[in-house]
Amino acid sequence: MSVRRLAEKQPESFEFTPENKAWAAKEIAKYPPGRQASAVISLLWRAQKQSGYWLSRPAIEKVAEMLDMPNIRVLEVATFYTMFNLEPVGRYYVQLCGTTPCMLCGSEDIKAVLRKRVGDEGHVTADGLFSWTEVECLGACCNAPMVQINDDYYEDLTPENFLRLLDDLAAGRPVKKGSQIGRVSSEPVGGLTSLTTLYGADGRGAKGSAPPPANDQTSAVAPTRDAHNDAKPRR
Ligand code: FES
Repeated sequence: MSVRRLAEKQPESFEFTPENKAWAAKEIAKYPPGRQASAVISLLWRAQKQSGYWLSRPAIEKVAEMLDMPNIRVLEVATFYTMFNLEPVGRYYVQLCGTTPCMLCGSEDIKAVLRKRVGDEGHVTADGLFSWTEVECLGACCNAPMVQINDDYYEDLTPENFLRLLDDLAAGRPVKKGSQIGRVSSEPVGGLTSLTTLYGADGRGAKGSAPPPANDQTSAVAPTRDAHNDAKPRR
């Protein structure tokens, strides 16, 4: 793990908004007396979101004060978890997955787009709009390669559709979250390759549809009559 330090330039102070203060009080109340430190991650996360996705020293100290913890204990948490940014990030903070499935499906090409359009990893563009970092698997490997931008996933990326996505974000145009090639969730791109006798190649097999031809080899095990009648579309 790389060394994680607080940013050199720090704001003078940090205060939760009244709304976030009320939220924090409820969060702390979830734990028994004397165990309020258990709320440290959720309070740090809220502080980060309030501050444009990064944590300043005053924010860390404010959380420590609210939870009656030594500053160093909260600092340890903030510097340990990479979900906490210790330096300012762009308004659109891009987390690029570079783990094996995404790498095999082209994440290096997506990284090249980021380098060209945004700059080096960690750099914030002059207009404050973008910065990026490479992260480990974000759990959307089926739709690799992918990035997370703020709270949303963008999947099935190509250099072309990703560049267009960045341009649309920069221009304030609406963007599509999830798959950028139109597939629903993580369905197979070219239709089903298994269980087609139950669900049909388009995955929409209806109850009572005609049984598969006798020589249909697309399913390893032919469904029983009951299994066929009980089959329900999953969506
Ligand atoms: S490897 Fe990229 S989301 Fe899992």
